[in-house]
Amino acid sequence: MTGGTVISARPATQVQSPNVRRADPCTLVIFGALGDLSRRKLLPAIYSLMKEHLVADSFRVLGVSREDGQTDDTFRTEMRKALGSSDEIEDVDADLWEELCKRLFYCSADLTCAEDYQRIGERLKQIEADRPEEQRNRLFYLAVPPSVFEAIVRNLSQSGLAPRTRTADARPWVRVVIEKPFGRSLETAQQLNDLVLGLFAEHQTYRIDHYLGKETVQNVLVLRFANSIFEPIWNRQSIHHVQITAAESVGVEERGRYYEEAGVVRDMFQNHLMQLLSLTAMEPPPVMTANAVRDEKVKVLKSVRWMTPETIPQNAVRAQYTPGAMAGKHVPGYTQEKDVAPDSTVPTFAAVRLYIDNWRWTGVPFYLRSGKRLKHRVSEIAVQFRTPPHLMFGGQPQGAMRPNTLVMRVQPNEGVSLNFEVKVPGAAVALTSAIEIAPVDMDFTYAEAFGEVAAPAYETLLLDVMIGEATLFTRSDEVEAAWRVIDPLIQYWDAHKPKRMPTYAAGSWGPREADELIERDGVEWREPAG
Ligand code: BG6
Repeated sequence: MTGGTVISARPATQVQSPNVRRADPCTLVIFGALGDLSRRKLLPAIYSLMKEHLVADSFRVLGVSREDGQTDDTFRTEMRKALGSSDEIEDVDADLWEELCKRLFYCSADLTCAEDYQRIGERLKQIEADRPEEQRNRLFYLAVPPSVFEAIVRNLSQSGLAPRTRTADARPWVRVVIEKPFGRSLETAQQLNDLVLGLFAEHQTYRIDHYLGKETVQNVLVLRFANSIFEPIWNRQSIHHVQITAAESVGVEERGRYYEEAGVVRDMFQNHLMQLLSLTAMEPPPVMTANAVRDEKVKVLKSVRWMTPETIPQNAVRAQYTPGAMAGKHVPGYTQEKDVAPDSTVPTFAAVRLYIDNWRWTGVPFYLRSGKRLKHRVSEIAVQFRTPPHLMFGGQPQGAMRPNTLVMRVQPNEGVSLNFEVKVPGAAVALTSAIEIAPVDMDFTYAEAFGEVAAPAYETLLLDVMIGEATLFTRSDEVEAAWRVIDPLIQYWDAHKPKRMPTYAAGSWGPREADELIERDGVEWREPAG
């Protein structure tokens, strides 16, 4: 958003201290403990939870990985290094690290090999020995590539380490966290759901989408349903369109191999963008329970108009980044990245126009876009309202006004802003019919209003699993409903390789084709500041 005055929003009253809940006593078993996710996200999250006294005194971590030569001590050294290089933690506190270090254990295992689970079980018994039986809760976190999900869930179940529990309040509890991607198509997601739900109950299964752990994503529901000013206008009568952007400035980094298999649609649309879409468009749930919220999300995903081979060419654009400049530095194009085929046609950018065929949203386009190596790292949901039906302020040419836009900034600078028109001050204008008007922004940022930045998503989500709060995790039918929206697009694009892949220079806002897609409707993409 450009121009405009900034009016800060501050909490009008003292903020109530939140209802802080501590995690149940448990052992967190990380499969893939020496991998990237564990080092970059899970360990820092555990450290922060300990710092905030949110884990139980008997909380332990058992890291499991293939690597043989490791011991508890070498694992602890590795994890200390991981914390030191984490950009989520400023200074590692020596005392706190001492405390955490004592709680870290290691076990080497080939997770595809059933026998190795006995060894894991023995280590778990040692670790849990000082805890009463009913507190021997276990959280198995699959921070591993999807190719081994299946083998692991089977082995976990068959080894008896993770028995199915009948009710969510059974103690000790056993929970399994499954990382994305959950399947590579609707069919494989259904197969994985069948397998997992044949072994564990839904209440034991936590499918992660880390976007749901982000503060603003959760705030979408509060903003919509805890304020009476928005909901009456949250519909086709008042809203012209919605733009959902998840732009990244990074390229594929070290993940070329994975990305070649995934592409932007599987990597970002099927999960993160579908979550943002469903929270923006869903109906109010009767209560804020996990199932009530997820029921509404599923309903709205099921109302998204199916894309078909006939409609896709007019409603979706894919592209790949070419070399360009990011922050003044030259960066390579996608096909020059490590582990990427020089003739790859995998999209690193996509833009899609979707319609939701229900009472509230008929006729309102939802434009979604995501890409790597875009100008800034920005994720936001921008709701653009209709312009007034008639303008009588002659100082302003019709059409020059900015329509009111409510922007929910997911990152960076999490917050919400609303722009509206005001009269430019001054008495110089003699004729009221020639009043000059200008847009201003009313801006709320979490950092300014609450003096703190939001907790990283993994911290929120890990705590939720340890508490048993499933609202921010994707239910089986929700994953499938999201795949139902996305699968036709993937299939169509796989079957129709482009003769010439549309491109965009790294550091730009995407391909010309994406601009054309939206401009056909007389609309422009926003260019949010980073
Ligand atoms: C992950 C994708 O799910 O989300 C990555 O696999 C992407 O490719 C990342 O970079 C973006 O997450 P965030 O939190 O940095 O916006």
